[in-house]
Amino acid sequence: MKKIAVVILAAGEGTRMKSDTPKVLHKVGGVPMLGRVLAALEVLKPAKLCVVVGHHSEKVKKEFAGKNIVFVEQARQLGSGHALMQAAKTLKAFKGDVLVLCGDAPLIKAETLREFVSFHGAQGNEASVLSSELDNPFGYGRILRHSSGQVAKIVEEKDASLPVKRIREINSGIYCFKSPALWKVLGKIKNNNAKKEYYLTDSIAILNALSRPVGAYKIRGVEEILGVNSRVELAKAEAVLRKRALEKIMAEGVTVLDPANTYISPETTVGRDSVIYPGTIVEGASSIGAGSVIGPNAFIKNSKIGSFCEVRISYIYDSEVSDGVKIGPFAHIRPGTLLKENARIGNFTEIKKSVVGRGTKVSHLAYIGDTELGVDINVGAGAITCNYDGVNKHKTYIGDGSFVGSNVNLVAPVKIGKNVLIAAGSTITEDVPAGTLAIARTRQIIKPRKKRG
Ligand code: UD1
Ligand code: CA
Repeated sequence: MKKIAVVILAAGEGTRMKSDTPKVLHKVGGVPMLGRVLAALEVLKPAKLCVVVGHHSEKVKKEFAGKNIVFVEQARQLGSGHALMQAAKTLKAFKGDVLVLCGDAPLIKAETLREFVSFHGAQGNEASVLSSELDNPFGYGRILRHSSGQVAKIVEEKDASLPVKRIREINSGIYCFKSPALWKVLGKIKNNNAKKEYYLTDSIAILNALSRPVGAYKIRGVEEILGVNSRVELAKAEAVLRKRALEKIMAEGVTVLDPANTYISPETTVGRDSVIYPGTIVEGASSIGAGSVIGPNAFIKNSKIGSFCEVRISYIYDSEVSDGVKIGPFAHIRPGTLLKENARIGNFTEIKKSVVGRGTKVSHLAYIGDTELGVDINVGAGAITCNYDGVNKHKTYIGDGSFVGSNVNLVAPVKIGKNVLIAAGSTITEDVPAGTLAIARTRQIIKPRKKRG
């Protein structure tokens, strides 16, 4: 592939979002819009990557720090042409193609970008525009073609006459230009239009006047090029990503009972014959193995769930769940937890930063924090690890095969050996050696009952 530089325009204020967050940091599918664009262009392996920032530029730079991006500032937002001009200094010495993308169009696919760039190269165009034909082109710039098929110019909605408004082929806001010729053309753009802005789209008419070849690569539908300018469009973009993610897992052999009520992030993988019940939300880079049953109403984030697991009405985040584990209903699995094979976490149980060994059961109403549980342990209802002394967190260890009775308090730091039996209602403050029985509660006393009245 030819050398390519990429510029992402992301300085616009996004007035219609009515937000304190810069538009390109609004998330779709749990990832900031700009992050989605950056992920899509990764396949192109750009020699240079420039992002034009303006509004709240500090926030944008901070979010994407350390990513090999050259940020250029557009102090005043005078239009998309003016925005691209800000990258001139960085890219003037670059000889090759410059791909221009918008930070507020997060749905573009990697393969489309690849096809578009190779179209541009094969046609020998000075500039190429990615276009689409829409039933409702309202709001987009329209593509005007010569009878030869070459693009003559792009007219913005606000500047369009009625016949132009009827044109259904629109500008996606994605372009490919030859550099360094591009920079000269940008200098010729004027702001004599409805918005008094320097439109990047005017570069096309300028190239035409110079008899330079300009083409358009038309893709199907609006889905990939949907520009997000408002919360309504943000919700539309979210819906597109969601549909894509659900269709991908269904194609791979996953049953989704009610797609309209299921949210799976595009980064999530699910193994075949897993079944997802309604109300399930899986966010971040999560994975679910084969043959698992998830939901109804499971919330899973940044977690790895094994095969043949069951997760019902429960919260799991930043954790790992091995094969055959059953969770819920109403369990809360908090960050740093590892549940090993065939463990069972039942209702109203919270597990935090703990390891639960193979086959161990914590079936009802328990809190396990900063704990290592061995294999085949039974933790009774209402058992609590008292891991916090008000200042520091402390660890609890419980050995293989032990039995922790109901309503036991384990005051950490504390070590319980293997095959220990802890009597119900005990408050354990000292280590318990392997193979012993520990009782730590006052003895029951029975007295005659006083007569009333
Ligand atoms: C733009 C195109 C339009 C196209 C549409 C596709 C122009 C003049 N029009 O319209 O033909 O159909 O995108 O979605 O380009 N930006 C800056 N600095 C500025 C102005 C804009 O960085 O001073 C950035 C924005 O952050 C955005 C992009 O440029 O990422 C496009 O600007 P926007 O104002 O959203 O243009 P549209 O009206 O959507
Ligand atoms: Ca836009």
